[in-house]
Amino acid sequence: MINFTFYTPTRVLFGVGRIKEVGSEIKKSNVKKVLLVAGGGSIKKNGVYDTVIASLQEQGIDWVELWGVVPNPVLSKVMEGISLAKESGVDGVLAVGGGSVIDTAKAIASGIYLDDVWASFLGKEKIKQALPLFVVLTISATGSECNGNFVITNEETKQKLGNHSPLVYPKVSIIDPSVQRTLPWNQTANGACDALSHIMESYFSGGGNETTLYVDEALTKAIIDATDKLMLNEDDLEARANLAWAATLALNGVSAAQLKGDWASHDIEHAISALHPEVAHGAGLAVVFPAWITHVWKENEPTFRRWARNVWDTDDVLTAVERLKSTYKRWGLPISLRELNLEKSEIPAIAQNATQLGKLGTVKELAQEDVEKILEIAY
Ligand code: NZQ
Ligand code: ZN
Repeated sequence: MINFTFYTPTRVLFGVGRIKEVGSEIKKSNVKKVLLVAGGGSIKKNGVYDTVIASLQEQGIDWVELWGVVPNPVLSKVMEGISLAKESGVDGVLAVGGGSVIDTAKAIASGIYLDDVWASFLGKEKIKQALPLFVVLTISATGSECNGNFVITNEETKQKLGNHSPLVYPKVSIIDPSVQRTLPWNQTANGACDALSHIMESYFSGGGNETTLYVDEALTKAIIDATDKLMLNEDDLEARANLAWAATLALNGVSAAQLKGDWASHDIEHAISALHPEVAHGAGLAVVFPAWITHVWKENEPTFRRWARNVWDTDDVLTAVERLKSTYKRWGLPISLRELNLEKSEIPAIAQNATQLGKLGTVKELAQEDVEKILEIAY
């Protein structure tokens, strides 16, 4: 048994029509003025923005807006948000969007109290305070709506790094799966792949806790089943709801209790996105994860065999990897670096970027040469 702490302070409002409760939820926290953080405009097209604004107005909550958060969000937008938050005297942050918007909002909410927000990503400055954060989620993928993680790219140094603080957990997250019907199919598939990857990052490092392993197998099956149903009918609300809830549970601590975690595949993917911001996180993971399993599975054979048997109905790990890849392929995801339009000659630079702060992973500690081997398998 491994001791663990389970912390999920976020209040979740789940279901159709619940976005209109955002104003009253903010009011309950005594927040008077929020910085509304948003992406490239999808929330204006699908009506989410109008619902949010009507709810803020109804409750007498003031707001200022920060638009233009891009997928693989960048430090310069965080800095812009920190300046705007300071100038306008907000006492809360409201993220309306996906992981990129939420992560930017977390960096602003904590960065407003730091001398140098990037120093906190490098472990050189500690987050001691943060503005209260509220979330209206529009794409299920990262689990950022219910965790304390955030990932930002420093465009100057070409580093995409994760950060964590218990202080940036959203106070409230509203998940209305019906607003995800406007997602382009590739974003739904990216989200499903990201959620599956979060489960795998914990699962394969395990062996300790049977309950969590069973939960993880069930979540994996739920995600695959819901995504297959959505592929047939993108308006299937039950499937949207199932995918959304499974994606939240995939990275709110439930899927990881008593498991060490590995996160090498995420680190490798983050290096790809750092150097190629056009690569979506979920798409990068579809390429990296099967190659990582192929490279490391013999290091923890019993757990990989259990996954092959209980999820993919085979005793052979490499057959299970092929089934995972064909699932991704069926969903239209890329499964090779070539499909991401990357050159083979870029492999050393990606591997160097991924390992610049040290070796990766726990199932097998990966140095730059190992990462290069994984990327060659992925090519
Ligand atoms: O920018 P807008 O116009 O809103 O469009 C977005 C964006 O283009 C669009 N979209 C979102 N909801 C929509 C919609 N389009 C139509 N209808 C809707 N309802 O989808 C695109 C992708 O959005 P993004 O927020 O980038 O997606 P995702 O949630 O996958 O976030 C990815 C980012 O989160 C990080 C990733 O590395 C990446 O930077 N991660 C964050 C984690 C965390 N905080 O815990 C963990 C993850 O492992 C991950 O690293
Ligand atoms: Zn992820």
